[in-house]
Amino acid sequence: MSPGRSCKIKSAWLCLKPAVEKAMATPKILLLGSGGQLGLQLGGLLSALGSLTAWGRGDFQISSSCLSESLDRLKPAVIVNAAAYTKVDAAESQPLEARLVNAVLPEILAHWAKKNSALLVHYSTDYVFDGQNKAPYLETDSPNPLNVYGRTKLEGEKVISEIAPRHLIFRTSWVFSVFGANFPKTILVLAAVRDTLVIKDDQIGAPTSAELIASVTALAVRAHLTTPDSPQGLYHLTASGAVTWYQYAQELMVRARRLGWPLPDGRPRLVPSYGPDPAKAALRPLNSQLNTNKLLADWSVVLPDWTWYLDRFVFFLLNLKKFSL
Ligand SMILES: NC(=O)c1ccc[n+]([C@@H]2O[C@H](COP(=O)([O-])OP(=O)(O)OC[C@H]3O[C@@H](n4cnc5c(N)ncnc54)[C@H](OP(=O)(O)O)[C@@H]3O)[C@@H](O)[C@H]2O)c1
Repeated sequence: MSPGRSCKIKSAWLCLKPAVEKAMATPKILLLGSGGQLGLQLGGLLSALGSLTAWGRGDFQISSSCLSESLDRLKPAVIVNAAAYTKVDAAESQPLEARLVNAVLPEILAHWAKKNSALLVHYSTDYVFDGQNKAPYLETDSPNPLNVYGRTKLEGEKVISEIAPRHLIFRTSWVFSVFGANFPKTILVLAAVRDTLVIKDDQIGAPTSAELIASVTALAVRAHLTTPDSPQGLYHLTASGAVTWYQYAQELMVRARRLGWPLPDGRPRLVPSYGPDPAKAALRPLNSQLNTNKLLADWSVVLPDWTWYLDRFVFFLLNLKKFSL
């Protein structure tokens, strides 16, 4: 080889080297449940923080050997698990299916994260509580779930906190997004076709946008990528404020009308209801409020009022050319 050619190759390698090193330093992030309300919001933010692999249903199997093998191949530094069985009433008759996603999957992920020193991020629910507290629940309050969904989510929390040394678990409530099925979308659809809507007025909680949960997650993941001993553990993460479902629907109607959502004059009439709902298989906590002081203290985040996100939700839904439930 002539000296000139060798030199050329050498200089080309030198030019490439920083780019190669940068690619190698890019952290691998794995997102599970990428097609859900939260998963879709997370995907957009996490892809800016590293090399993102997004798994929806069908991209992985919930079996210890299959999943561990896939994880061994991928070797993510961060696993964000937004996959969950979230059909609260159906879970009463499908406890095994709910437990598989809400407890078995987190356990497999926790063992792999422990063995490979990965950060595991997971989500849980206000439904781990029985709702008898008068005040918003603290992370240290004793859980006592009223339904199968809540019990399986609690089991998922426990296995992660016992097994994975580096974990973040965000308990949230009443999640909504322009993606997927949720309460405000259902109300808007029903409002177009029903004269009257009967809505629970004795359960109180904080409607929380998937956007907010995804933003706080991205902030925490970024901190852990640069500073691995950043705060970790269990956190309550909801928007500020609290309402009953009935007040939520009232506020939605006001904002939808103001932003130009096509609603007939004076319709639908909203009627408050109280007591157990015979149409629902699962019991729900009366008080779903979560105290977020620990999150504010450790992460210095601002949690806007839930109505701020409701306006964004109505605006985006109105302006999307197509949407489906
Ligand atoms: N929704 C709420 O009001 C609420 C309230 C409190 C806490 N949370 C928690 O917040 C987190 C995110 O909830 P979300 O509202 O985004 O839920 P979601 O919209 O129901 O999304 C759940 C995701 O999990 C996937 N999934 C379900 N079963 C699966 C299985 N067997 N194998 C693989 N993937 C499966 C779903 O796939 P498909 O899209 O294919 O179905 C979906 O992508 C969950 O941990 C949930 O428990 C939610």
